[in-house]
Amino acid sequence: MTGIGIHDIAVATGHHVLELDDLAVQLGVDPAKYHVGIGQDAFSVPAPDEDIVTMGAAAAKQVVDRHGVEGIRTVLFATESGIDQSKAAGVFVHGLLGLPQNVRTVELKQACYGGTAALQLALGIVARNPAERVLVIAADVARYDVDTAAEPTQGAGAVAILVSADPDLIEIEPVAGLFTADVDDFWRPNDRSTALVDGRLSVSAYVDAFIGAWDDLASRGGPAYDTIDRWVHHQPFTKMALKAHRKLTQHVGADFDETELRTGFTYNRQVGNTYTASLWIALAAVLDLDDDLAGKRIGMFSYGSGSVGELVTGVVRPDHQRHRRVGAVRADLDARVRLSVPEYRALHAAGAATSEDTERPRVTAAPFRFSGVLGGARHYEATAAATATTATAAATATTATEAAGTAGE
Ligand code: HMG
Repeated sequence: MTGIGIHDIAVATGHHVLELDDLAVQLGVDPAKYHVGIGQDAFSVPAPDEDIVTMGAAAAKQVVDRHGVEGIRTVLFATESGIDQSKAAGVFVHGLLGLPQNVRTVELKQACYGGTAALQLALGIVARNPAERVLVIAADVARYDVDTAAEPTQGAGAVAILVSADPDLIEIEPVAGLFTADVDDFWRPNDRSTALVDGRLSVSAYVDAFIGAWDDLASRGGPAYDTIDRWVHHQPFTKMALKAHRKLTQHVGADFDETELRTGFTYNRQVGNTYTASLWIALAAVLDLDDDLAGKRIGMFSYGSGSVGELVTGVVRPDHQRHRRVGAVRADLDARVRLSVPEYRALHAAGAATSEDTERPRVTAAPFRFSGVLGGARHYEATAAATATTATAAATATTATEAAGTAGE
């Protein structure tokens, strides 16, 4: 076995987009406050028949279509916008994807940090049995009350990460920097569908967690600052990564060149805050768009309000370019359907989870949809897009196999 880490990563997002220029007009705010002040251009909004399950399943389907289900015995679903207080969202995904029954499935929560906890659990499971692979899904819909300072920092999206031995993309290094502090910077009580937040406290709590996690990493023999070639961060808004990273460079006495972080902002500027998925969407952007990554070490900082921080490092595999998904996320972002502010506000008002029986209108173009609530239980179904993408994936796999066969002749 040559290391354990990220074998594949895929992204999915919502059907709609709200341009922050439109919100700026509505709120009478200078659009530069959004584009420059917080570093965001737009955010994804789920259709009425989308939620964390449909987005998570759409991301996971890409991974399963490419790699099959062999060896997957664990599905870890991280979210802080759970759709049931008991049943794990991953169980719905398990059913939609037709995964084998001999799988353990569970949901994890600690604000935006849950996806990183899932990754660490996955690494441990594969370390015990390198023949197993773990499907990690992180999906969230970030919702704040309208007409608040936090409104422009909403978003929606999901990632699926396949963790395996001898990974194609990134080998995760064994030492991580950890930090926990009990802080009331952001939380969502059980009777609310929108988060409560102390914005300024949340920014300083994030920075404290980043510095604290760095100090822990350094004290445990982690890599020196100047041996980390790229950085990605949890990005509630991309300016947050700049603020925190500037503080870290002051802390370690290094130069700060903010242009080095920009590739990791590319997708997040468009999807908004995706909570548990945010850091990993930044990583997906770097893997897709940076052509000089082979052998490079990436620092990955995860923050979840409340608060927990973790700093993980990984080294990009030499032939990672053969396995990346260039163009897929850009195509999904471009395909989103633009909403006016009144249309977005109407969806926002209707967006709270409900146990009342409802039938959802058919809107999404994604492979899975939330069809409604029946007898108090949520129901999901595959759409025509699921069959189409599976057929395309099968054809691509066949072509790749034939090409490999020809190359070997
Ligand atoms: P605000 O009231 O818009 O803040 O709230 P502001 O008035 O200070 O403006 C923001 C920035 O825009 C400032 O820059 C202004 O100068 C600048 P800074 O001083 O910060 O560098 N600005 C302009 N720039 C250019 N042209 C202009 C202009 N006007 C102003 N015309 C806040 C901002 C982030 C607090 C708010 O959006 C919020 O509460 N968001 C939600 C909380 C959040 O995202 N916190 C981040 C850290 S916590 C975290 O990451 C965890 C989280 O993801 C949840 C979880 O873990 O579960 C949230």
